Amino acid sequence: MVNLLEKDNFLITRSYNGGYIKFFIKIFFVKLSFKIKDKKLHTNGQNNNIYIKDNGILKKAIKKIPDLKIDIDGKNNTLIIGSSCKFTQSVIVCNGNNNSIIIENSNYSFSKLFINLCSEFNERKIHIKENVSIGGARLHCWGDNSRIIIGENSMLSTGINIMSGDGHIIFDKLTNKYLHNNDNGFCEIGNHVWIGMENIICKNTKISDNCIIGAGSVVTKSFDEENCIIAGNPAKIIKRNINWDISGKI
Ligand SMILES: CC(C)(COP(=O)(O)OP(=O)(O)OC[C@H]1O[C@@H](n2cnc3c(N)ncnc32)[C@H](O)[C@@H]1OP(=O)(O)O)[C@@H](O)C(=O)NCCC(=O)NCCS
Repeated sequence: MVNLLEKDNFLITRSYNGGYIKFFIKIFFVKLSFKIKDKKLHTNGQNNNIYIKDNGILKKAIKKIPDLKIDIDGKNNTLIIGSSCKFTQSVIVCNGNNNSIIIENSNYSFSKLFINLCSEFNERKIHIKENVSIGGARLHCWGDNSRIIIGENSMLSTGINIMSGDGHIIFDKLTNKYLHNNDNGFCEIGNHVWIGMENIICKNTKISDNCIIGAGSVVTKSFDEENCIIAGNPAKIIKRNINWDISGKI
């Protein structure tokens, strides 16, 4: 009887040991695969490349950029990021083919930046030039061959939406004729432009150098005049011959 019990206990202990070992090995490999996956840049599709630009030289990115989620699909898409760029809570999504996103070096950080090249549009371009600061902006490139350019030394506050197209088609109810083309749209922000809080910059707009866009404005047309304050919905020039400085104190 005693012998039998000892035998049973031995068997039970042995089977538990085996189970635990297998369980811990499984956990180890699951954790490891998550770690490897987490470090990898997320690119699917074909010939999509992510480069880090350092002193004008492009090197293929091999590990994740801290606090920047990248999701690329489609074909022949290129993402170039300056080596000094710092991100917080930022996301880049790119689908379609032959799109390019360039983010040049900056002394400032990019916070809550969402670059939205989702949908299957092609040949789109986003270029954030040198020394731009972003507190919270969504850049939506909708339509084939559309582009968003942010000039150097520009400052984008929080809650900003910039869209180079409308994203959907509008047509005449009676004739079914398209009222506008979603393709070839653009938003060109000049150099040293300050875009205040909660702004919407619509398609086919240009803002010239050294301008300020007042808080909560909706920009629906181009402004060719430099050094202006533009504000309201729809935005209009409210002051001329101004300039601004990033410092908060005189
Ligand atoms: C645009 C701005 C800088 C203009 O400041 P300002 O030169 O002192 O302008 P004023 O207060 O003298 O206003 C001039 C006129 O423009 C109007 N105006 C000012 N800002 C406006 C705005 N955002 N939208 C609509 N109208 C505006 C004023 O009502 C005033 O109209 P009136 O002449 O009919 O009375 C300021 O109003 C603003 O929007 N600041 C927010 C900046 C921001 O977002 N900072 C976040 C940190 S990045």
